[in-house]
Amino acid sequence: MVKQTWTFVREYLRAPKTIGAVAPSSRGLSELIVDLAGVSQADVIVEFGPGTGSFTRRILEVKRPNAALVAVEFHPTMAAKLRHRFPQVDVAEDSVANLGQILAERGLSKVDSIVSGLPWAAFDEDLRDQLLDATLSVLKPGGRFATFAYLEGSVLAGGRRFRRKIRRLFTEVHRSPVVWGNLPPAFVYQCIR
Ligand SMILES: C[S@@+](CC[C@H](N)C(=O)[O-])C[C@H]1O[C@@H](n2cnc3c(N)ncnc32)[C@H](O)[C@@H]1O
Repeated sequence: MVKQTWTFVREYLRAPKTIGAVAPSSRGLSELIVDLAGVSQADVIVEFGPGTGSFTRRILEVKRPNAALVAVEFHPTMAAKLRHRFPQVDVAEDSVANLGQILAERGLSKVDSIVSGLPWAAFDEDLRDQLLDATLSVLKPGGRFATFAYLEGSVLAGGRRFRRKIRRLFTEVHRSPVVWGNLPPAFVYQCIR
């Protein structure tokens, strides 16, 4: 855990807008987001921005043995650390913007469950829209997309814009209670296509 926190602090200082967090997510947040994404019932699961693997660890604990899991992480240091920590996980060192192609290369097209660790509130609108388009284009009707937000960031302009956008794009959007034990406190948006 100390190793993973150090990786975060160092990489956050280098690229705050793409890393978006100074510490890996807590166990409590990992359990909640993986549950709300419906991972345990899914056949095809994609994780966005796994970083050092807090959510990945939980996904591996609950997913069906034969379910496909692809973790999409474009930061080379994070991708290397993730592969080292979880050699059994298929890590695509690429951007979520290329999701369709990443899945096609693996013989997959549609996804049941997406667990997102991306820092949406830090993205500019064009990038956010591009990544959400890629998300919707692969998610099955009824499929689940779960993503977290920091409480403090959710009241700022970027956080409010993201909330309005997902409410327009998805059939249902539910907001979880706050996980106060996370650093900083965070909650999960459960979005159903
Ligand atoms: C806030 S960290 C989350 C890490 C981990 N899921 C957690 O909660 O501890 C965000 C991660 O998303 C990755 N990332 C940001 N933009 C991305 C993109 N467009 N495609 C893939 N990964 C991206 C960053 O490199 C970083 O590892």
